[in-house]
Amino acid sequence: MEMKSNPIAKVEAHRTGRPELRVLVLFHSWSGNTHCLAEAVAAGAALGPEVKVEMRRVAELRDEQVLLQDQRIGSKFAVFRACPVATSDDVIGADVLVLGCPTRMGTMSAEMKCFIDGLSTLWRAGAFEDKVGAAFTTASTPHGGHEMTLMSLAVAMTHLGMVIASPGYTAAIFEDAGSPYGATATSKVQGVRVRPSEADQAAARALGRRAARVGQLLQRGRDAEKVLS
Ligand SMILES: Cc1cc2nc3c(=O)[nH]c(=O)nc-3n(C[C@H](O)[C@H](O)[C@H](O)COP(=O)(O)O)c2cc1C
Repeated sequence: MEMKSNPIAKVEAHRTGRPELRVLVLFHSWSGNTHCLAEAVAAGAALGPEVKVEMRRVAELRDEQVLLQDQRIGSKFAVFRACPVATSDDVIGADVLVLGCPTRMGTMSAEMKCFIDGLSTLWRAGAFEDKVGAAFTTASTPHGGHEMTLMSLAVAMTHLGMVIASPGYTAAIFEDAGSPYGATATSKVQGVRVRPSEADQAAARALGRRAARVGQLLQRGRDAEKVLS
């Protein structure tokens, strides 16, 4: 990830009053399942004109040309490859950060972990304190580690000092899809690869809405504090 020379100044500059809430949906995906949920999260987070929602992907660790030539994933990866790779400025500027990646070996993908580990300079500058966080994942088997991946993302957000907007059962859809820890989808059913279902996408939209709403409440609280002080 790109690192700028003076992150502390940038973090401070970001904190001076801005009217809009910025939501960054940051995902890693190869075959598009997690990207599909990322789009649903972004749609749900778009609460109104005062909320700016952006999507970014984390950098690949593999050569992208190799991924594009892969028979199984190449054409799927090509669909969202044009989505910009996240920079440190994207992260600094976000009030709400929703992270999503495939479940790999029962936890977050190495690409997402590498991205998070690369945040340490911003972390030391306090860039993540009071940012709102939420998480989503896809996995190919019903019990393949969805919750462990979501919890691994939550652990990272906890270390960064973020405020986690857990979905819990705050929307009725979480009774049927997703989980109280974040949005999920299972990408293989009876051996057949499937895209996230309508219900999975609805849960992802609910997650985006919830994270943006908590972000708005925090922002309004900060604004009120400024007026009162
Ligand atoms: C290296 C690797 C490890 C994986 N590990 C798991 C796993 O632990 N559990 C599981 O259910 N699926 C696992 N999967 C399957 C992916 O999580 C699943 O296909 C996911 O939907 C891919 O997301 P994407 O389409 O966004 O790339 C693994 C896939 C790869 C390539």
